[in-house]
Amino acid sequence: MAPKKLYIKTYGCQMNVYDSERMAEAMGGEGYETTERPEDADMILLNTCHIREKAAEKVYSELGRYKGLKAARPDLKIGVAGCVAQAEGEEIMRRQPMVDLVVGPQSYHRLPEMEAKVRSGGKALDTDFPEEDKFDHLKGRPKAKRGPTAFLTVQEGCDKFCAFCVVPYTRGAEVSRPAERVLTEARDLVERGVREITLLGQNVNAYHGHDGGLAGLIHALAEVDGLERIRFTTSHPNDMDEALIEAHGTCDKLMPYLHLPVQAGSDKILKRMNRQHTAEQYLRLIERLRAARPDLHLSGDFIVGFPEETEADFQATLDLIEAVEYGSAFSFKYSERPGTPAAERPQVPEDEKDDRLQRLQALLTKQQRSLQDAMVGRDVHVLFEKPGRLPGQMVGKSEYLHAVHVETSGIVPGDLARIRIESSGPNSLKGVMYPL
Ligand code: SAH
Ligand code: SF4
Ligand code: F3S
Repeated sequence: MAPKKLYIKTYGCQMNVYDSERMAEAMGGEGYETTERPEDADMILLNTCHIREKAAEKVYSELGRYKGLKAARPDLKIGVAGCVAQAEGEEIMRRQPMVDLVVGPQSYHRLPEMEAKVRSGGKALDTDFPEEDKFDHLKGRPKAKRGPTAFLTVQEGCDKFCAFCVVPYTRGAEVSRPAERVLTEARDLVERGVREITLLGQNVNAYHGHDGGLAGLIHALAEVDGLERIRFTTSHPNDMDEALIEAHGTCDKLMPYLHLPVQAGSDKILKRMNRQHTAEQYLRLIERLRAARPDLHLSGDFIVGFPEETEADFQATLDLIEAVEYGSAFSFKYSERPGTPAAERPQVPEDEKDDRLQRLQALLTKQQRSLQDAMVGRDVHVLFEKPGRLPGQMVGKSEYLHAVHVETSGIVPGDLARIRIESSGPNSLKGVMYPL
């Protein structure tokens, strides 16, 4: 029998990217192959994100695009997964009859049974936070060769309840996967060609599945032969313990790049966000990290226009950014999320938010560009991932996560090479191979 085709569209964070891979693999066991073309699919799965406004609207409008397909082929099954499914799955199923299946981020190991149910004409909805660990119920990962980089989820959920954020509601309470399982999965990935693993968690540095927490896990992973690079994301400042700071100085495989969101620079706003630390504490933490690893590149997330943020509060965010100097960053206008405490507070006008976002991004872009330009003339190590756009070009990432293009015939994806950086463009660097 010809394999059935699964089209998955992924929104949101890297954890969703990882979940989409695992969902595709789970469906592989049911005779599905993935396709890039929705028009070829027997099943369409939207893996959704709920973090900012209009999340559900986006899902409805995406579903609308498949109306014609569904009308032409009633046996096409349509599913909604991820964080919007968790938050609004029942409502979506009620409002949009073309949806056959709704599955939350903690129950997708049940997809095979759910698929069988919808194949026989029923509907399936599962947004439980089950007792069992989905990872224990997913089959082993297939052995097919894969690219040099991979994500590996080690921690899920969040107990921090920042006043603006839906994640604790959509992903549930904080849990860590046992280190043995993580190590086994990492070894499997390395056997399949992976050289760099990014450990994922909504609060990855709260990981407690290994003695010594995330630092303990990183040191254990560093022992895996063939694994060359380790990264982790996203971290909360309050979970950066001494051992993890130290690991940045002592573990060669841990890359000198850290995503450490602070969100805002005003203590008043940090307190109202329930971030549980001050701007000064964050800056001291950065100092300790840089003492352990002087060339560390930092990245962050910022929210502008949080309720009751004044111009002076916003200025404090700009001051903090000036003090840190970020190598990269993500910034957002505050977005009211139903059911979160901040949504009830006095809001900042939209034009004010727009103006602050522009000013914030101008500063962050300037910093990003200046740290990138400072790479010119330096040597970096690049893990090559794929051919570049120009013939004869390969592209990969430096230890600082800069994209680096090199013209060479002697490199294949998965190669790690020392590269001299020669120029810096808008979004990437260009370099030459050793020997020069
Ligand atoms: N666990 C991570 C963040 C997960 S959400 C952490 O604590 O850093 C990713 C980013 O989305 C957040 O860092 C925040 O900057 C942004 N974000 C979350 N909720 C938001 C909201 N309601 N409005 C605007 N941005 C938001
Ligand atoms: Fe959301 Fe805060 Fe948890 Fe991050 S730490 S996921 S921002 S509640
Ligand atoms: Fe979005 Fe859920 Fe990730 S809300 S950011 S997909 S945890």
